Amino acid sequence: MVQDKTIVLGVTGSIAACKAVEIASKLTQEGARVDVVMTKAAQEFVTPLTFRSVTLRPVVTEMFDLASEFSIEHVALAEQADLVVIAPATANIIAKLAGGIADDMLTCTVLATEAAVIVAPAMNVNMYQNQVAQENIAKLKARGFTFVGPAYGRLASGAWGLGRLAEIEEILGTIRQVLGRDGDLAGRRIVISAGGTQEPIDPVRHIGNRSSGKMGYALAEAARDRGAEVVLVSAPSTLAPPVGVKVVQVQTTLQMRDAVIDAAAEADALLMAAAPADYGPATTVESKIKKEVETLTIELVRTPDILGEVKGDFIRVGFAAESENLIENAKEKLKRKNLDLIVANDITASDSGFGADTNRVILIDRSGNVESPPLLPKLEVAHKVLDKVVELLQR
Ligand SMILES: Cc1cc2nc3c(=O)[nH]c(=O)nc-3n(C[C@H](O)[C@H](O)[C@H](O)COP(=O)(O)O)c2cc1C
Repeated sequence: MVQDKTIVLGVTGSIAACKAVEIASKLTQEGARVDVVMTKAAQEFVTPLTFRSVTLRPVVTEMFDLASEFSIEHVALAEQADLVVIAPATANIIAKLAGGIADDMLTCTVLATEAAVIVAPAMNVNMYQNQVAQENIAKLKARGFTFVGPAYGRLASGAWGLGRLAEIEEILGTIRQVLGRDGDLAGRRIVISAGGTQEPIDPVRHIGNRSSGKMGYALAEAARDRGAEVVLVSAPSTLAPPVGVKVVQVQTTLQMRDAVIDAAAEADALLMAAAPADYGPATTVESKIKKEVETLTIELVRTPDILGEVKGDFIRVGFAAESENLIENAKEKLKRKNLDLIVANDITASDSGFGADTNRVILIDRSGNVESPPLLPKLEVAHKVLDKVVELLQR
């Protein structure tokens, strides 16, 4: 989403200006051309040289600088931008933008651009909650600006409250989401399940599996970045909920089945990346089982077969985690569960499958076409799967 895009990063006079360095650095590493525009106040907190060093591009600090290519054509940046991001955004810049003031390079650029604008406010809690600041934010939202944050937490003054710059990952997620709005999944609703469900034995113990949810979460992020409306039905996971994705938290396979059936009602595609526990205790004991006996037998019963029960006119993608006869077992599951595509992976490899950041998968469709991409980070695997989903949706 970010590669080869021109992103204007406006940095204003907040103590959080130093955090903008990481944003500039990450976007540059992902292949964006990042043009940083700093207000005078921002330069009191971070030097232009810092941004120049991470973006490898000139930093705009002055409107009337004869040496700058952008000063001669003061709206050049506005025209070249695919996206403008202001992070951190002071109360002052928000007020100026709401009022249409154009007295420096950043305000001129925002006023003149047709690109989307993302604003990440950072300020003292009283400044943020001040009625005039809220009115200015409402005005900009009504004009189509996207706001991210602020977050609740400890502020520079030592006080706690709403006003901290949103987490960098949240700002980057919003950037990818906004840039991907017109992607090849725009207007599509994609439902994804993730993680390993847990079947309670008693209030403190459960039967579960080693699924981390990483593959499902990567699919959710990738689908969001391609413009889809994403619902992620997630079993308990330590992963942060992806920005811009509706997350439905569940614990058991039964809860996952109900949530998936609910979400899939208007879906264009259902991707079942979760690892539901196939068996659960026949009964759940209400209070903690004491360590009193030498052996303990728990009767297990089958949990619902989610893919078997969810009906509807959408693309159905299943995942097969296998430890033997990978292709034969996956093909059999594809047929049995009436899938359009199955993503098979060998869980015996240490660099692939449960918990790993990378995955080596085999994609098999209904017509028997088999694709074997190399070992890739899970986000890239997610895009390979979604390439196939887009192809199937177009058919
Ligand atoms: C140490 C310090 C920290 C500041 N932090 C913030 C802040 O987080 N948010 C804010 O709105 N203003 C903050 N200010 C005030 C702004 O720097 C001031 O309003 C300035 O005029 C903003 O200019 P700009 O919007 O053109 O960057 C801070 C000032 C100082 C001295």
